Amino acid sequence: NLYRIKQTRADTTVLGLISKPVGHSKSPLLHNAALKSAGVNAVYVPFLVDDLPSFLKAFSCPDFAGFSVGIPHKVTAITCCDEVDPIAKCIGAVNTIVRRSSDGKLVGYNTDYVGAISAIEDGIRGLIGNHAIELPLAGRLFVVMGAGGAGKALAYGAKEKGARVIIANRTYDKAKELANLVGGDALLLTDLESFHPEKGMVLANTTSLGMQPNVNETPLAKSCLGHYDLVFDAVYTPKETRLLREAKESGVTVVTGVEMFIRQAMKQFDLFTGMPAPEEMMRDFVMTNI
Ligand code: ATR
Repeated sequence: NLYRIKQTRADTTVLGLISKPVGHSKSPLLHNAALKSAGVNAVYVPFLVDDLPSFLKAFSCPDFAGFSVGIPHKVTAITCCDEVDPIAKCIGAVNTIVRRSSDGKLVGYNTDYVGAISAIEDGIRGLIGNHAIELPLAGRLFVVMGAGGAGKALAYGAKEKGARVIIANRTYDKAKELANLVGGDALLLTDLESFHPEKGMVLANTTSLGMQPNVNETPLAKSCLGHYDLVFDAVYTPKETRLLREAKESGVTVVTGVEMFIRQAMKQFDLFTGMPAPEEMMRDFVMTNI
């Protein structure tokens, strides 16, 4: 029932998550509920996969139309696609593969950065009361805490939207390396406390600080948060991290990792089906089940 096997027919499109481990993921629940609600003749199945190229070769028929890609395949996925979205290529990670119906080619995307950046942009639009502004991040100083995979995605995404990017990391050399790649500046995470050169800055946490079970950890002291217009946290367990709670208490607009999760899944739905995602249903589902 979870994977809608009863609704599967000969002409049902198969979508799925390629990952190892795969059992913990909530994506099958969310995508199957969304597909059902939108009346799409497709099922979304978890695939425990060791070798991504062999899997894609074995399931190369048109009915296998799209995949989410999870740990540890996001980097390898780039080389398995016939075409890759340019920003996903820069980030070095693909989390969504779609088989283009016109020519059967595999096209790779990264919906993680799309989800995070679009949520942050909408947060700024709301804050300045201008919902029509096309590039609300243009010219803003955008501070990314962390220089791992998620840090890279946020840094490239913000840069693409015209922001000036600063990478703050516990290990300075990794911050510098990423800053050089995106065309930004680097800081030691501990130096961020005395860094507030201007107003209107955006802060994005991509470190694991504050993630369950270490909910009392936070990457930046509360006293610093008032320097930012908006604070985003990629951590979504718990739904409200200490960083976001303290930012709110300081009167700062916040964007949650849950919002990023919802939006990246909506973008995947759109890529898989060519239809707009059932937003309200997906939001309700995530808020009650994840
Ligand atoms: P992801 O792919 O989710 O970004 P990752 O590649 O393991 O995960 O990166 C984790 C990031 O969190 C890194 O920037 C890491 O800092 P280092 O480069 O110094 O390792 C950061 N991080 C993890 N634990 C941390 C901690 N206790 N304090 C500060 N930063 C931490």
